Amino acid sequence: MGSLNGQIAVVTGGGSGIGRAIAHQLSKQGAHVWVADLQEDSASRVVSEIKENGNQATSYRLDVSDSEEVARFFENVDQTCGRVDILINNAGIAGNPSLLTQMVDEEWKRMFNVHVHGSFYCLREAAKLMMRNRYGRVVNMSSLAAETSLAGFSHYGAAKYAIVGLTEAAAKELAGYQITVNAIKPGVIRSALTQGILGMAEDRLAETTPLKRIGEPEDIAKVVSMLVQPETSFVTGSSVVVDGGFRLMNEMDRVMLEALGK
Ligand SMILES: NC(=O)c1ccc[n+]([C@@H]2O[C@H](COP(=O)([O-])OP(=O)(O)OC[C@H]3O[C@@H](n4cnc5c(N)ncnc54)[C@H](O)[C@@H]3O)[C@@H](O)[C@H]2O)c1
Repeated sequence: MGSLNGQIAVVTGGGSGIGRAIAHQLSKQGAHVWVADLQEDSASRVVSEIKENGNQATSYRLDVSDSEEVARFFENVDQTCGRVDILINNAGIAGNPSLLTQMVDEEWKRMFNVHVHGSFYCLREAAKLMMRNRYGRVVNMSSLAAETSLAGFSHYGAAKYAIVGLTEAAAKELAGYQITVNAIKPGVIRSALTQGILGMAEDRLAETTPLKRIGEPEDIAKVVSMLVQPETSFVTGSSVVVDGGFRLMNEMDRVMLEALGK
């Protein structure tokens, strides 16, 4: 018996990387997980893996940036399962890096469509079902880029800050229904999204991290698991940084630690 036995969870972008690890983690704890992803084959693959482990899951091809598609998806979940207890708003893209002065409208809008509009559409539909049961756990995937936005990624940073704004307003509106809404701000985590940067600078990034390694998708899944437990009932509107301490380091720290032989 897992701590999430009988619960229904939706993980967007569950076909790869962090979402895949979250889908595995929640299913191991007894939840029936809907793995919703733009890539149908990736979602199906993750569902097969979950079933091979003896747990329950359903795959669904979903574009989170399409409002009507999202509404139909949650109707489907409701008709099939009669409830939603957990929503993990995780689907995301890295986008192409670009200087602000050279950023084209389409690239900026694509980023907001997936991250901000997508998280909003899913949260709005899931919240209606959760309110009916007067219970829910929502985790929105923000980023360390919403602590200090990255050069060349103004669109990504702005979208991830917006997700924190959505999280905080939703936490206040839904608290009366025993629905908690939190965000996670991952640092550098190994996935398809970071393949390029890790290919260029994995050793440097690991060295700069106090815990001396790159994060793995499972590092995020474990924190998600804490936030969605029924007994985690007094944490809402929070943004949890999961980065091995990366955000703390600056050039001065490096100079001092080196001078002290560390
Ligand atoms: N990897 C990191 O270092 C890192 C750091 C901070 C935040 N994040 C965030 O974590 C989340 C997961 O990223 P990841 O690293 O696992 O990347 P990933 O590329 O491995 O996974 C992203 C998944 O989202 C899906 N997706 C993309 N657009 C979609 C859409 N419109 N509708 C439905 N699904 C869609 C993709 O098909 C893919 O399966 C993203 O929101 C990302 O911004 C990642």
